Amino acid sequence: MAYDDLRGFLSTLEKEGQLLRITEEVLPEPDLAAAANAAGRIGEGAPALWFDNVKGFTDARIALNVHGSWANHALALGLPKHTPVKEQVAEFARRWDAFPVAPERREDAPWRENTQEGDDVDLFSVLPLFRLNDGDGGFYLDKAAVVSRDPEDPGHFGKQNVGTYRLQVIGRNRLAIQPVPVHDIALHLRTAEEKGEDLPIAITLGNDPVMAIVAGMPMGYDQSEYEMAGALRGAPAPIATAPLTGFDVPWGSEVVIEGVIESRKRQIEGPFGEFTGHYSGGRRMPVVRIDRISHRTNPVFESLYLGMPWTECDYLVGPNTCVPLLKQLRAEFPEVQAVNAMYTHGLLAVISTRKRYGGFAKAVAMRAMTTPHGLGYITTVIVVDEDVDPFDLPQVMWAMSSKVNPADDVVVLPNLSVVELAPAAQPAGLTSKMIIDATTPVHPDARGNFSTPTKDLPEAKDWAARLQRLLSEARG
Ligand SMILES: Cc1cc2nc3c(=O)[nH]c(=O)nc-3n(C[C@H](O)[C@H](O)[C@H](O)COP(=O)(O)O)c2cc1C
Repeated sequence: MAYDDLRGFLSTLEKEGQLLRITEEVLPEPDLAAAANAAGRIGEGAPALWFDNVKGFTDARIALNVHGSWANHALALGLPKHTPVKEQVAEFARRWDAFPVAPERREDAPWRENTQEGDDVDLFSVLPLFRLNDGDGGFYLDKAAVVSRDPEDPGHFGKQNVGTYRLQVIGRNRLAIQPVPVHDIALHLRTAEEKGEDLPIAITLGNDPVMAIVAGMPMGYDQSEYEMAGALRGAPAPIATAPLTGFDVPWGSEVVIEGVIESRKRQIEGPFGEFTGHYSGGRRMPVVRIDRISHRTNPVFESLYLGMPWTECDYLVGPNTCVPLLKQLRAEFPEVQAVNAMYTHGLLAVISTRKRYGGFAKAVAMRAMTTPHGLGYITTVIVVDEDVDPFDLPQVMWAMSSKVNPADDVVVLPNLSVVELAPAAQPAGLTSKMIIDATTPVHPDARGNFSTPTKDLPEAKDWAARLQRLLSEARG
């Protein structure tokens, strides 16, 4: 099942019992964010939240926590809602192999229904803005997919980037944006600023659920997010041409905001409660001037709560971080079996691999740190043997506790790049990184006493089935 827009997905969520309409009147602050925060604290299967009775707003339609449980993530991929996480990751990886799937261009985008231009642009009249965490410096658009092109090669479809970068509202037609230096939009901005030019952008809000997944996915610089969305949806992604920039934007967006990042201007942005469970401070960030807003009639404002994990953000960037890492590693090291990078947006990754020779596991870990995601995030890599499941944390802990001789198996590399938001970095943006090699040494690495492992008895599998049968008979 492929959804062409957010509305189509919300109605499926509702049919599946995965959307909760809150009809009684709530306050914009703190109720909206507190409810989305709470969705991450009520256990498995949390629903998306819909609010349309918000004090002080005459006409608000707000969707929160849309990807905020494994059930909703499964439905976003068109899978049954009870699909286990590991199967969701495996299916995601299978669909990746269909990349690239060319998008389908459509003419009649519903966001063409209403337009504001020039001096008439007023974000506050289009969106029911509210703050998320109580220390936030202002209102944020934190689930937008931002489109930009490489100023040196604007006709290259793959180099056109679609990425999620949070935006702080700093005026009726002004935003501050945070392009992390390792991300594609930062490369586009650097090129534009070197030429002394503004960087045109299109900010799309309220997208179909797969678009939101690919916008936060660490792909190669010249790989198209639209062609990846097609592979993951199993159907071409519907796109349309944005009227001012001419960029390709999702056909089904609720709101399309066009303008430029103004060359070489910076303004204080933040603080903001982050995915790390800590606030960023106020920092100087590039500034966006909005020249045009196109929007559907009665637009839905989609936002995402983030803060101390787990929140919607962790579900959204779970499989979409594990799978690119797996594929990028396997391109050079086919021995790699699985990658779990689901903790704090992959600041830590667990990788299972077969070993070609002694020292191999450390090479895999170093490569992980130089992938598009690794450059800015992965700070700790735990490497385990091929028969240890990285998603089974007790097994990972067994490998760490029984295989690691710290003097040789823990490697610390100083002064590598990381997002400024990583709270332990010193200075911000620079950190030491750690490899924990929890694999069994192989030739010529002869350290330790691993020659006689105990394996599960060959009969244990049959016995497990037998015990389960006996137990269910005994329990009636
Ligand atoms: C909710 C959310 C907010 C994000 N905010 C930012 C941000 O402000 N700046 C940034 O550079 N990346 C941000 N990211 C991460 C990027 O979207 C992600 O790493 C993506 O892979 C970047 O792709 P790119 O390298 O193609 O630009 C955010 C991701 C999510 C899901």
